[in-house]
Amino acid sequence: MTKALNEQIKLEGTASFIYLSMASWCDTQGLEGCAAFMHRQSAEEREHMLRIFHYLSEVDAHALVPAIKQPTDKWKSVQVMLKEVYEHEKKVTASINNLLDIARSENDYNTENFLQWYINEQREEENLMRSILDKVNLIGEGPMSLYYIDKEISAVNKAEEKAETAGGEE
Ligand code: FEO
Repeated sequence: MTKALNEQIKLEGTASFIYLSMASWCDTQGLEGCAAFMHRQSAEEREHMLRIFHYLSEVDAHALVPAIKQPTDKWKSVQVMLKEVYEHEKKVTASINNLLDIARSENDYNTENFLQWYINEQREEENLMRSILDKVNLIGEGPMSLYYIDKEISAVNKAEEKAETAGGEE
């Protein structure tokens, strides 16, 4: 179980780095709303990583700092980039589900309980990315599409920020 949780630390850390790279690329494209959103996503993934770190310490196991390779620094378009975020979130969900299977097979009730937070978080994350992609599809590929996509994502980011300040989500 410890080994699998350490692999999850790496997956969350990798997501944090990929999203940070996306934030930087968005900034170079003048997509400030998207950059702010990806910075927030990156910070969230770091929190997800640290949450496992602290959990492992709490159960007297050894949390390991992962080696993370340098992520891609360019994307074909912001639409492609956002689809990649969604695909990555689906991969994380599958990995969390796998962790839950392991916890159950080992009768590790503490870890099973700990993972419930991630199950909820992944449902929210996937839902958020799906709704963003739906809007991106509606906006289409017209000459002003990048402007509207950035505006839309900026609004999503502000709504998330507000929800967090209100003490709702992380
Ligand atoms: Fe921590 Fe979005 O996976």
